[in-house]
Amino acid sequence: MIYEVYIRSFADGDGDGVGDIAGLSSRLPYLAGLGVDAVWITPWYPSPMKDGGYDVADLRGIEPMFGTVAAAREMIAEAHDIGLRVLLDLVPNHLSDQHPWFQRALAAGPGSAERARFVFRGGRGPGDEPPNDWTSNFGGRAWTRVTETDGRPGEWYLHLFTPAQPDLDWTNHEVREEFERTMRFWFDLGVDGFRIDVAHGLVKAEGLPDLASIVRSEGAGARVDHPHWDRDEVHEIYRSWRALADSYNDPRVFIAEAWVQGPDRLARYVRADELHTAFNFDFLLAPWQAEAMRDSIAAALRAHEEVGAAPTWVLSNHDTIREVSRYARPQGVGPVRRLDDVIDLPADISIGRRRARAAALLMLALPGGAYVYQGEELGLAEVEDLPDDVLQDPGWEQSGHRYRGRDGCRVPLPWSGLEPPFGFSPPGARGAPCRDAQSVLALYRSGLRLRRAHPALGDGTLRWLEAPAGALAFARAPGFACIVNFTAEPVAPPVHSERLIASGPLDEDGRVPADTAVWLAL
Ligand code: GLC
Repeated sequence: MIYEVYIRSFADGDGDGVGDIAGLSSRLPYLAGLGVDAVWITPWYPSPMKDGGYDVADLRGIEPMFGTVAAAREMIAEAHDIGLRVLLDLVPNHLSDQHPWFQRALAAGPGSAERARFVFRGGRGPGDEPPNDWTSNFGGRAWTRVTETDGRPGEWYLHLFTPAQPDLDWTNHEVREEFERTMRFWFDLGVDGFRIDVAHGLVKAEGLPDLASIVRSEGAGARVDHPHWDRDEVHEIYRSWRALADSYNDPRVFIAEAWVQGPDRLARYVRADELHTAFNFDFLLAPWQAEAMRDSIAAALRAHEEVGAAPTWVLSNHDTIREVSRYARPQGVGPVRRLDDVIDLPADISIGRRRARAAALLMLALPGGAYVYQGEELGLAEVEDLPDDVLQDPGWEQSGHRYRGRDGCRVPLPWSGLEPPFGFSPPGARGAPCRDAQSVLALYRSGLRLRRAHPALGDGTLRWLEAPAGALAFARAPGFACIVNFTAEPVAPPVHSERLIASGPLDEDGRVPADTAVWLAL
């Protein structure tokens, strides 16, 4: 299991109220005890923090607020000593506008080699219209016009995210070399791999055609030839990165963050000579309904099998609404990625908690890798009532206050006690986490312990079992089964010899109640 550490809010070691490397170091034994195999640390590089660190101003440094390169090296060694591997976040689609490359590009002017590393273009019409109709992921247009050094309005630069995150041009060899240098730098420091941010966005269609020019083919699931998402040309980059990773004696791995259309497109990222794994977001997006979950699992397994890669399962991350709050809502209404998608729907958090516990056991029983986002193991819900003035997600401002954004899953982790700062900042852990959190934690600990010990779990295959309507059940060899009941009525479990673990109490007659998952020995 790989555990996502959102560094700013994981644990604060130096008492300034912001999470850091010292805090992470002090909690490594906790992670090892939980049953984590590897940690993925979100960007810890020097950054103006216009997008939570995904605006990188120095690819091979450490943000002073988080620590130093020496502290990072030490932390990595400590992690290795207790059997944890360390993955970093690599952000290749864009840099911070404060990165020296962008500053030099501004100074060097149109037509320069410095500008060619980014996507600068002249405007349309007399120049005062952006080069095309692309929009930023956070709202508004994807282009900002610069003022040239002579004071005149000049070229436009592309930013698929905030204006503080200019997109790089991946046809430029200097860009490629810079990222290879960066990977080697961190690999040589002991890092075991990278999560690749926006892996589906690096390559833009030649000529930067308008979104309005997309020809949509007919029929459900028909693929759209999008000018900047999931273009086929992007795979050539990953083949070269794979070769770089494979040049190391001990294994170095990649995980793709690729929001693409369906499992077959995702599987292309994990072909034998490309990346090792890719987040399976379709599972995260599937509503809490037996058929939808089963279809999503089956489709992912099939698509990954075709390319010989292991699937991954993920319930949430720092960009998505926490699953407790997602499953607390009416299900199947529409795709739910962020809090903003459901904020107006009624929520029953106790139902969300039950479902999230069941989802955890479901996820840990599936073939392949599992990802846990910090706090998931404590059953945390999204914080939905953050005051406007503390919101930091750039989406809040950029959408003109239409979207509250992702801050509700990024608040400091409560480690212990009943009062702020809940053990987040020194003197640190005193007392235990609250009772709810303890019981979810116990479930994760036992589930992960069993998962390691049981020969049927982890990589492999599954066989679907006959299950009552509204439930799903599958077996894994040797001698393991999992059943999940998505309905409001109890269902009978498959014939078994022993109950291994359940996400909640079973009925007296052994039936599986609503929103409950059980692992069985066959
Ligand atoms: C990824 C990150 C997200 C960030 C975006 C831009 O989706 O997970 O947090 O805002 O990329 O880098």
